[in-house]
Amino acid sequence: MKLLALSTLAIQGAVAFPSLMGKVDEAFQPDKRAAYPAGCSVSKLCNTRMDISDSEIGYNAKAKTPAQVASAARNNCGAQNPTGCTSFNAKAQYVSTSGEHAYADPAPDEIRGPCPGLNAAANHAYLPRSGIASLPQTVDGMNAAFGMFPDLSGFLAAYAIVFNGDLLTQTWSIGGPPPSTTIGSGLLGKPQGISWSHNKYEGDSSIGRCDAYINGGDAHSLSVERFKYAYVVGMDNDRYTLDKFAREFTKNSFRSIRQNPNYFAPLFSTTLVSPAAYNFVVNLMSNRTAAEPNGYLDGEIFKTFFGVSGTYPNFKWLPGKERIPENWYRRPSENGYNAVGGVFGDLAAQFLAYPVSFRFGGNANGVDTYTGIDIADFTNGAMHLDDLSKPENLACLAYQSVQQAVPDFATGGLLQAATKVLNPALAKAFGGLACPRITKFNNNNLNGYPGHSYSPTGPATTC
Ligand code: HEM
Repeated sequence: MKLLALSTLAIQGAVAFPSLMGKVDEAFQPDKRAAYPAGCSVSKLCNTRMDISDSEIGYNAKAKTPAQVASAARNNCGAQNPTGCTSFNAKAQYVSTSGEHAYADPAPDEIRGPCPGLNAAANHAYLPRSGIASLPQTVDGMNAAFGMFPDLSGFLAAYAIVFNGDLLTQTWSIGGPPPSTTIGSGLLGKPQGISWSHNKYEGDSSIGRCDAYINGGDAHSLSVERFKYAYVVGMDNDRYTLDKFAREFTKNSFRSIRQNPNYFAPLFSTTLVSPAAYNFVVNLMSNRTAAEPNGYLDGEIFKTFFGVSGTYPNFKWLPGKERIPENWYRRPSENGYNAVGGVFGDLAAQFLAYPVSFRFGGNANGVDTYTGIDIADFTNGAMHLDDLSKPENLACLAYQSVQQAVPDFATGGLLQAATKVLNPALAKAFGGLACPRITKFNNNNLNGYPGHSYSPTGPATTC
C-alpha cells in the first residue's frame, strides 16, 4: 500500500519548513518555566490523564490493515530479523550484574538523564559511572550490555558529542551539563548533555517523560502516570511488543498535540528518535532464552530498566536507580541491533501500519493545531512521503539531514572538529546507502511553529 494513507493522514495542510533541529540557543523562556515545578518533578498538566481511542489512531483489532498484520508479526528482535534472532548462546549473551558490574546508586556527582538504557548501563559500569562517556566507551558499553551494533552506537554517540557534548575532550553527558572541570567547547556552546537537548536530541511524545514545554523544560524526570499508559499495553498477557508500543507512541503523539501548545516534531529528535526509543525498549530490553531466542519483555523487566517500583497502579519512580535485571540475557551479537535495518526498519514498519504516527511538524497556533510538513517541499523534490516506506530512504533522510545540520552551527576550527567526529560515524552507519541527493533542505517559514525555538537549558542534574 506504500505510504498513500500516510500521505493523506500525516500531511494536513501546507506549511512551513522547520529547520532540522529547531534553531538552538534561542529563547530559553524563564517566564513559561516558572509556571511549572522545576527539577525532578512532574507538572499537573503532564500527569493529567488523557485517553486516546484505538479508532483515533486508525486501529481496529478486528479489521487490521495488511501493514498492521505485518507490524504485529514482528518479533522482539525487530524488523531487521524477520525470521528471528538466529541463536541463543547463554555464555555470550549473559549480562553480568556482579563484580565490576554490580549495581550502585549514582553518587551525587554522577550524572543520569532521560534515557533508561544509558542510566542502567552507567549504574552497572557498562558506561563510566560518572555519566560522561567517550565514543569508544559508548560503543563498547552498548554492545556488551545490549547487543547494539557499533554502527548505531557510534552514530548515536558522535551525534551526542557534536550537538550536546564536548568537542575538546570528545565526550558527552548522559544527563545534564558535565561538571565544570571537564567543560570544553561544544559545537553549540557549553555542553548541555542530553537532558537539555530539546529539539536537538530529546523530543516530545516520549514513553515516560513529559513534553519539555509542559514540564518547565524538564524532559528527563519520569512521570509515573505516563509510564502507566505504556505499562497497561502489555498487561493483557504480560508481554510487550513492537506493535503494541507503535500504537502507544501514536497515542502519545495525540496527547502532545492536545496538551502542548509548543508541540513540535523536528525531523531527527522527534519524528525519528522519539518513536525509535519505544522500539529500543523491545529490541534491547527483552530477555533472551533458549526457548525464546527472540526474547520477551514482561512488566517486571520493563519496570526494572525504568527504575519503577510497586504494583500497578501504585508505582513509584526511583530517580537514577535504573537497573539491568538479574539473570538477564541480551540479544545475540550476530543479530546486533543496527542503524538501517534495525532502527529504520522498525520505524518504516510502524509508519506503514500507523500512518498517523509519522509526525513531522507541530502545533502551529496552540493546542490541536497540528500541521504537517510536506516531505517533497522539505527535500526540494528529492523525496516524497511514499519513498519513506523503505527503511533505506528513511535512513537517507536522517543521514543527510544530520550531515547538513553541522555547517548551520559551526565554522572554522569547530566545524573541522565536528566533522572529524561525525563523518566517520555517519559513514559506518549509512555509508553503504545509495541515497537520492538532497542538495539543500528547505527550512523556510520556520516561525510557523512556536515550538521550534523552544530550547530550555538547565543546571546540572542527577535526575
Ligand atoms: C548511545 C546510545 C544512546 C543514546 C545517545 C540515547 C539517547 C537518548 C535520548 C536523547 C533520549 C531522549 C529521547 C526522547 O525524548 O524520547 C533517550 C530516550 C530513551 N532511550 Fe536512549 N539512548 C541510547 C541508548 C539506549 C539504549 C541502549 C536503550 C535501551 C536499552 C535506550 C532506551 C531509551 C528509552 C526507552 C528512552 C525513552 C525513555 C522515556 O521516555 O521514558 N536508549 N535516549
